[in-house]
Amino acid sequence: MNEHNARQDSHLDALIAAARSAREHAHTPYSNFRVGAAVRAKSGRIFSGCNVENATYGLTLCAERVAVFKAISEGERGFDAVAVVADTDTLTPPCGSCRQILWEFCGDAEVVLANLRGKVERYRMSGLLPKPFDGSFL
Ligand code: THU
Repeated sequence: MNEHNARQDSHLDALIAAARSAREHAHTPYSNFRVGAAVRAKSGRIFSGCNVENATYGLTLCAERVAVFKAISEGERGFDAVAVVADTDTLTPPCGSCRQILWEFCGDAEVVLANLRGKVERYRMSGLLPKPFDGSFL
């Protein structure tokens, strides 16, 4: 999907805006790499998150997982779209750990990557995480 097509979908604008706004709250004293994310529940509600770093480094939480866990803890289930915003020319995709968590709760949702200058790319979770392990194996 190219940038033109992505921008035609105005329903994604609010999701990207929420991710962009959450990014402003990122706690990133170690990397200074600020990320915002937002998930859209099938109810229509949008939940956002930012990355929250820790002096141990390893306890850092990515923006995507913060957004998902906020939504889950508010009682939401079922999501159809995720947005990730960072200030990079090559758009920032979810890390491997976040892909696993996104698959658990969002399934084959749409994933929209954006930067601060209006560049947008669209993917699906099944493209970002082929052959996932999930509860269907248990
Ligand atoms: N990070 C995210 O929050 N989401 C991503 O998609 C990639 C990485 C954060 C984790 C860490 O705070 C910083 O970016 C650098 O890795």
